[in-house]
Amino acid sequence: MKVHSFENAFLAIGGVTLVACIGALVYATFGMGLHLPGPGGRIDPQRAYQTPPFDQLGVKQVAPNAFEAVVVGQMFAFIPPELRVPAGAEVRFIGTSADVIHGFNIEGTRVNMMMIPGQISRATYRFDRPGEYLLICHEYCGSGHHTMSGRIIVEPAVALGSAASPSTDTTTTPPSQTITAYSPHPSTR
Ligand code: CUA
Repeated sequence: MKVHSFENAFLAIGGVTLVACIGALVYATFGMGLHLPGPGGRIDPQRAYQTPPFDQLGVKQVAPNAFEAVVVGQMFAFIPPELRVPAGAEVRFIGTSADVIHGFNIEGTRVNMMMIPGQISRATYRFDRPGEYLLICHEYCGSGHHTMSGRIIVEPAVALGSAASPSTDTTTTPPSQTITAYSPHPSTR
């Protein structure tokens, strides 16, 4: 059987692409350790505010130039609504939801994750420019969805250096009112 040379070329391209994709998949799984969420990142959403790390909300320093920002989303606010972090530092956002699915999107950055009740979401980012960044919920979560926003205040790294005090820990305690359990679709998720 005669196979046209163009057909041969396309078959070869197809074969190479297939092998490259399988290679990427194997590398992502075993080389980078990417996998589906496991039970390790799960919490009881009704007890979100009592479950570490969400019993200590806000920003805290975890290493000389690394911070953790712990946030809970609930209809229709981020708690705490304002996070202050220094420029140039590695900030690890750790979030969850106390009720329904919310979004966690920081304007002008690649921080874009879902806050899913019962799951812990994480994203790491370094802000190079000081300023104020808008944090928005970009998953429709109910009648007040469009009002759900927060702020990330990135302070110049110099200010932090001169302040160099242990008081960079600005964690806030969870809201005292009990969160009424809301389960829109108990059967799904
Ligand atoms: Cu929360 Cu939309």
